[in-house]
Amino acid sequence: MFGNDHPVEIEVGFGKGAFLVSSAVARPDTNFFGIEIERKYQLLTAGRLASRGLSHVRVCAADAKQWFSQLIPPQSVAVVHVYFPDPWWKRRHHKRRLFTLDFAQDCLKVLKLDGVLSIATDVAEYFVMMQETLAQISEFSVIPLDPTIPGSNVETNFERKARMIGTPINRARYRKTAEAPPRPASSPEVVAESEVVADSAD
Ligand SMILES: C[S@@+](CC[C@H](N)C(=O)[O-])C[C@H]1O[C@@H](n2cnc3c(N)ncnc32)[C@H](O)[C@@H]1O
Repeated sequence: MFGNDHPVEIEVGFGKGAFLVSSAVARPDTNFFGIEIERKYQLLTAGRLASRGLSHVRVCAADAKQWFSQLIPPQSVAVVHVYFPDPWWKRRHHKRRLFTLDFAQDCLKVLKLDGVLSIATDVAEYFVMMQETLAQISEFSVIPLDPTIPGSNVETNFERKARMIGTPINRARYRKTAEAPPRPASSPEVVAESEVVADSAD
C-alpha cells in the first residue's frame, strides 16, 4: 500500500484527525493508516493531509472492527492507537463499544511481535474495562508511559477538549510479547445468543 518498508501505525476512530495529521508531519519515516467510521471525518482529514502533501498516510471510512478482523494482514503493524473511543454511556448500548475482547485479540493479531497498543480515554469506567479486557490476553504486557517515545505528546481533538475542562485522562500502553495461538472461528449462533442475553440484562 505504501510502496516502502517503513513501519505502519494505525489510528482507529481518528475523528477530525488532529493526531494523525500532527504525527504524519512529525514522522515522515512512518506510514500511518487511519480508520474512521464517519465518512465526513474521513473526508475532512483526507483534505487536511492532501493540503499538506502528506503521502505517507492513508485514511478510509469503514468499521475498524471489520478491518481488524478480516483485512489487515496479521503481524504487519508497529503501533495501534485507540484514543477516546465512543463511550456509549447507557448500559444497553455497551455492546456498541469498539473495545471488546474480540477487538483486543484482533489488535494482537495484526501487531508485529514487540508492537504496541496505545489507548487513552477520559471515561474512567471504560478505561477499567479496557484494562480488564487486555489483562485476559497474556501476550500483552503493560509498558511504562515514556514521554520520549515518538507520538507520546501528540494530542487528539478529544484530548485537547478534555484537558481544557480539566477532565482526567487515562492512558496506557501494551507491548505484544508473544504470538497468540489460533482462535476458533466464531459461531453466528453464539453471537446471536449473547446479544439476546445482553438485551435482557438491561
Ligand atoms: C469520541 S470520538 C474520538 C475521536 C478521536 N480519536 C479523538 O480523540 O479526538 C470516537 C471516534 O471513533 C469513531 N468510531 C466509532 N466506532 C468506530 C468504528 N467501529 N470504526 C472506526 N471508527 C469508529 C467515531 O466516528 C468517532 O469519530
